Amino acid sequence: MITKEEVKIKPGKLFIDGKWVDSVSGKTFDTINPATEEVITLIAEGDKADIDLAVTAARKAFEEGPWRKTDARDRGRILLRIMDLIEKNKEELALLETLDNGKPISETTNADLPLVIDCLLYYAGWADKIHGETIPVRGEFFNYTLREPVGVVGQIIPWNFPLLMAAWKIAPALACGNTVVLKPAEQTPLTALRLGEICQEAGLPDGVLNIVPGYGPTAGAALAEHMDVDKIAFTGEYTTGRIIMQAASKNLKRVSLELGGKSPNIVFADSDIDSAVNGAMTGIFFNQGEVCCAGSRLFLERSIHDEFLEKLSDKASSLRVGNPEDVGTQMGAQVSKEQFDKILGYIDSGKQEGAKLVTGGERCGKRGYFVKPTIFDEVDNNMKIAREEIFGPVVSAITFDDVADMVRQSNSSIYGLAAAVWTRDIKKAHRLARDLKAGTIWVNTYNTFDAASPFGGFKQSGFGRELGIHALELYTQVKSVWINLGS
Ligand code: NAI
Ligand code: MG
Repeated sequence: MITKEEVKIKPGKLFIDGKWVDSVSGKTFDTINPATEEVITLIAEGDKADIDLAVTAARKAFEEGPWRKTDARDRGRILLRIMDLIEKNKEELALLETLDNGKPISETTNADLPLVIDCLLYYAGWADKIHGETIPVRGEFFNYTLREPVGVVGQIIPWNFPLLMAAWKIAPALACGNTVVLKPAEQTPLTALRLGEICQEAGLPDGVLNIVPGYGPTAGAALAEHMDVDKIAFTGEYTTGRIIMQAASKNLKRVSLELGGKSPNIVFADSDIDSAVNGAMTGIFFNQGEVCCAGSRLFLERSIHDEFLEKLSDKASSLRVGNPEDVGTQMGAQVSKEQFDKILGYIDSGKQEGAKLVTGGERCGKRGYFVKPTIFDEVDNNMKIAREEIFGPVVSAITFDDVADMVRQSNSSIYGLAAAVWTRDIKKAHRLARDLKAGTIWVNTYNTFDAASPFGGFKQSGFGRELGIHALELYTQVKSVWINLGS
């Protein structure tokens, strides 16, 4: 097993034009281990001046550099090499992610890293399969389309799945022939920087991928409003999404947004109750609840309510919360003090609004940002804890009798990222799959992902679809070519 000392935690620099550089301002910031509250290392803090340099490098690599002119199959080959190196350094990356984010090593090892690897494998395969069409137009013309990269792409990612979000963003963008400026979240820059080293080692040409850690309102904003960036892809809070859209309007750059959620997890009396309980556990406690599609509103049909909550509460209160580096740990630390305080604030709000606390409801231990798995019952869909994204291990149970009314309540949210239904009735499952307003519907499962299946939101959960063939739409544009065949 790899040890903490073997993990490559080196002073973090910015990765611009294939070089590791300090920030123009010389400023740095700390990255913290949220399980111990200790500083892991210093990171160079990029802001507008560094973003300018990174965008210039990406532009040059796009216009003059070899990337766009590299044979598509060879672009795919480089993505495969990146994948191989990630696989080779899997243990190290998993530990680095656990140290920076606070999530359990069992999850970084068994969920994050395999999904990262699959994402690269999937888009490596697409690189040489992106092409246009010939179109039967009226008249003596030959018309065809070219599917071209959009150009310089800015990508801003959050801290909940740092390396996975980087993979979701860079793999399709690079496969399509774009060049990239990636801004990781200030809370979790380490695996993105390590990814930069890996890309270099894999032979990705200089300037094709630039990585600039820094804060949102400085580095992030500079990227979103940059006049020479052609597209911005963002994952994070919906209020940040609004700011990004406004900034992007400056040069009308293309925008795709993957924002938050308040996803309903609906359990019918005719479901397999034990697997639904396990699904509800995964739905809200996976990744400490720091999941955009977390099943944070648990709709329970009245006749199974008591049995279900008793089983859920037993499981939740016996979850092993603690040292994320321990292989037996099931739930780690929240990512930051800010996030920890925010979650405890929502727990207070739930108590004040009259929801019934079933289990948890407080911090866990005295050091590190740990929160006990928390269940509220007797929640009304209008309470703050049922409306707003908590992004922590806090689930709100809502009882229902009438299906139509439950569907109305499920859809009564500004969000529409995901929804799940637990039932043995196939008709009911398919009917609800149509009626629920969300980008992903799970039936008798929760938090299931695959690189080939699209992911994204309805309503204020954003627009654009990542993963699958759909992400190619985000990173290509279509050109129509007309040839006169007449006299
Ligand atoms: P955030 O949306 O502020 O941060 C996400 C990314 O956007 C980070 O890289 C950040 O540096 C950047 N950013 C922030 N402000 C920016 C700006 N003005 N211009 C450009 N980039 C900017 O999310 P934050 O503050 O870390 O978390 C707050 C809440 O957002 C969480 O409690 C959670 O509810 C939600 N969230 C949702 C995520 C999702 O996957 N949908 C991921 C992270 C947070
Ligand atoms: Mg923020």
